Amino acid sequence: MAGSKEKIAGTMEFPPPTPQPNIYPLSWENVTTKLQEVWEASQREYWDPEKLPWDTFDVTKYTWEQRESIAYWWTILSVFDASAPPVFASALIKTYELHEEDVVRRCFFSVTRDEQNHEQMCGLVITKLLEHPDPITYEPKTDIGRRLQKNAKWLYYNGGRYWDGFKNAVPKYSLAVLFSSFLMGEIAAATIFHQMAAGCKELVFKEGFSKIGKDEGRHMAIVLTLMERDYPKLSDEDKTIITKQIRAGYLFLSAVLFEPPLEFWDVPEDFIENQREGERYAREAGFFIPDYETKKENWKKAMLNLKGVLDKYDTEFPAIPEVGITGKEISDIDMEDIIPVF
Ligand SMILES: [Fe+2]
Ligand SMILES: [Fe+2]
Repeated sequence: MAGSKEKIAGTMEFPPPTPQPNIYPLSWENVTTKLQEVWEASQREYWDPEKLPWDTFDVTKYTWEQRESIAYWWTILSVFDASAPPVFASALIKTYELHEEDVVRRCFFSVTRDEQNHEQMCGLVITKLLEHPDPITYEPKTDIGRRLQKNAKWLYYNGGRYWDGFKNAVPKYSLAVLFSSFLMGEIAAATIFHQMAAGCKELVFKEGFSKIGKDEGRHMAIVLTLMERDYPKLSDEDKTIITKQIRAGYLFLSAVLFEPPLEFWDVPEDFIENQREGERYAREAGFFIPDYETKKENWKKAMLNLKGVLDKYDTEFPAIPEVGITGKEISDIDMEDIIPVF
């Protein structure tokens, strides 16, 4: 083989074929035309978190307990949303490596961009409420603030454990496997954000949540469309991984959508108690967080939705006894198995 710096253009009329897979497709083929609509909606519905009506958001009308408690909720969300941009950016790179259709590449680009917005939104709210841009180095002013910060530190520690696993997993897994995890996050996210948009009193929260909810709905549509395309030819091996991934995703996302299952999340004993108390302060301030039963009902509905999709493609569903769903027993899941998405 010729050295990479050796010029060959003088020796032949056309260059040799570029070894594949190559990071860039020089092709804009579109087959899954349904996705064009989603892409167009993403262009139309693009929003800028900085342009929300921040001038109406007067944090001084809240007590410090309330401010720290609402900021805590956004901190939990950030544990998930701050990892979404790099996660979807890796998926975007994968669509290029695989020479996915042009419209699929655009759709993944739009998801990455949306998730970056969601992350920005978390940052803007937290910074306003705490008058500090970082909930971990912030100095709490109240007792509940201190306890919630301890929670936040444990969440952050837990979330920090999956990135290496994820990086190793992305090249191994097919996009189809990634989709099932993505769908799980999107279904759950779309529900909770619409509820919060409807229930929150503060205008910036209402607007932010309804925009985020809309974004998540589009992400869901993208994933569903691609599953329709790819799942009829799913291999048995992929099916097994998907079943496991659903269980992993359930355990992982429970921390934001329900309560962290203690067999999976390594958090101290007083964690849930502190969190519930924080939620009470936040609700009292007009910040809507669904109560325990509503969260459970949401989560169950999301899981049944997902089960409905997977049943169509003969893919076994894991048992989720926490919300009363029977299925294949899956044990020994670790943070490193997680394909995190939200
Ligand atoms: Fe998101
Ligand atoms: Fe999303």
